[in-house]
Amino acid sequence: MLSYRHGFHAGNHADVLKHWLLTLCLQYLIRKDKPLYYLDTHAGAGSYDLRAATAARTGEAALGIGRLQGQDLPAGLAAYRELVVADAAQGLRYYPGSPQLAARLLRPQDRLRLLELHPTELTQLRKRLGSDPRVKILDGDGFTLLKGLLPPPSRRGLVLLDPSYELKDDYRRVQDTLRQGLERFATGVYLLWYPLLNLAPCRRLSQQLEKLPAAQWLQVQLQVQQPPAGHGMYGSGVFIINPPWTLRAQLEQELPVLLSLLAQDDSAQWRLWGSELGSK
Ligand SMILES: C[S@@+](CC[C@H](N)C(=O)[O-])C[C@H]1O[C@@H](n2cnc3c(N)ncnc32)[C@H](O)[C@@H]1O
Repeated sequence: MLSYRHGFHAGNHADVLKHWLLTLCLQYLIRKDKPLYYLDTHAGAGSYDLRAATAARTGEAALGIGRLQGQDLPAGLAAYRELVVADAAQGLRYYPGSPQLAARLLRPQDRLRLLELHPTELTQLRKRLGSDPRVKILDGDGFTLLKGLLPPPSRRGLVLLDPSYELKDDYRRVQDTLRQGLERFATGVYLLWYPLLNLAPCRRLSQQLEKLPAAQWLQVQLQVQQPPAGHGMYGSGVFIINPPWTLRAQLEQELPVLLSLLAQDDSAQWRLWGSELGSK
């Protein structure tokens, strides 16, 4: 049985990076009327109560989304924060997971396919999004189920792969899944989140991803603190296949702002590089 529960980490610096990038990509894709498919292989519970014992125990949201509150933000970060705090009366009580953020942004003609393995998370997800006519929730292994959903009927889609990396095999499976995804749907937009950890498979992943047969890719990393001697997460990265062409310029403008808000010590830094781009 999986033990990872995203409720302990909702709204932390890693969620901010991932969900900000997700928002930017979805915003770009819905400029065209044609229906868009959003496929979330590791959907989680859909929304998280930041006052619940889980979130309160770690206090991670205060060092993540909490640091964006009350700040003057550039357009992309402001749009992400607006989606998170959709109900001003509730303020930051509930942090939306990736499925709920996507549901808030997408249109009636779009579709969401949400895959999740953990029974408790599935029950919550069904409660929150199960009655939305655009949504189908699939119970099972997201890596395996994705294959059967590609290519999407409209041939326009964004896939988010956001495993917990609880199992070492996840580092291999994300690569295999992306490779199979590209074989079936080469023009899709894919976002893969990964942690920055002092672990060999994790350190290797970023370079291994660059060998995938993707025509265009962009990689973003946000390190928020000095890497610890042990195993703690000191930042995270997102590998984006077929990124919107406007994304790089927007990230170059906004990443310095995000870094200044989320930095926990002087070694904090961001990196941005890609298939046809030089490093930062
Ligand atoms: C990092 S959380 C997802 C968070 C969510 N994407 C978000 O941004 O709000 C990872 C989720 O993957 C689920 N999970 C782990 N292994 C899985 C698998 N093989 N297939 C589907 N879900 C899995 C876990 O139960 C957990 O809810």
